[in-house]
Amino acid sequence: MDNNKAWEEFIINLAKISNIDLKNYKRPQMERRISSFMRQQGVENYKEFLSLLTANKDVYQKFIEHLTINVSEFFRNAGHWKVLAEEIFPELAKRRGGPLKIWSAGCSTGEEPYSLAMVAKEKNVKIENKILATDLDREVLAKAVKGTYSEKEIEGVPPPLKKKYFKQDGNFYTINDEIKNMIKFTRQNLLRDSFDKNFDLILCRNVVIYFTEETKKTLYKKFVEALRPNGIIFVGSTEQIFNSREIGLHTQKIFFYTKQ
Ligand SMILES: C[S@@+](CC[C@H](N)C(=O)[O-])C[C@H]1O[C@@H](n2cnc3c(N)ncnc32)[C@H](O)[C@@H]1O
Repeated sequence: MDNNKAWEEFIINLAKISNIDLKNYKRPQMERRISSFMRQQGVENYKEFLSLLTANKDVYQKFIEHLTINVSEFFRNAGHWKVLAEEIFPELAKRRGGPLKIWSAGCSTGEEPYSLAMVAKEKNVKIENKILATDLDREVLAKAVKGTYSEKEIEGVPPPLKKKYFKQDGNFYTINDEIKNMIKFTRQNLLRDSFDKNFDLILCRNVVIYFTEETKKTLYKKFVEALRPNGIIFVGSTEQIFNSREIGLHTQKIFFYTKQ
């Protein structure tokens, strides 16, 4: 079977046994990641690989983790969080005149929504219900819910916040219940599931890197529909929404887009 056909068949079969449709992802990057994983597992072709994924839950889970790349950090790109805390939050709160509805889309192991909750607390920003934090991957969500991190993992937390919002136990730190209770973690596939509405702020950072341009466009449009007028999307430091104007967004600040 030629390579193209084998790949097409593989992605159709993978979508049947998992929540992942690789049609939406950039093929060269995905092919490379999948080949390296297959080599690690000692399988030589997609057919064998699919049988392994179906038969072995542990390998399946490892594969999903390998594919979705869930590295995160507290206050990732600190300068952008400063803009969020000092400019975006006060402006949104003022415009809204009430609590803000916030979503961390692709929240991984929780660093992003917990950073949000700490900033909201520090800045006295009221939150509508809870901050919604969603991800595709069950394993990362389990770690996020637990809220326990190593010293290295909380390196990005400013010392006063570390002191105020974490409990230390040996070499590990657990986020306190006050912050934990501000967040609702839920599993969701951004490319398949429907979105809640009326958000004031959506963070989608370092999630779309492997999506095709077409998929990114569709996703950003869905985000715009999920925002309130004047709501804001906060993206990652290597990301830009190229067709922002076309889909009704204008750049508020670099990495922050407002719904017109
Ligand atoms: C690199 S992490 C980014 C975490 C955090 N937003 C940050 O910037 O630090 C990307 C996360 O996106 C999630 N992800 C990838 N594709 C997704 C999809 N289709 N739906 C929901 N989450 C997805 C992955 O599981 C992973 O946890």
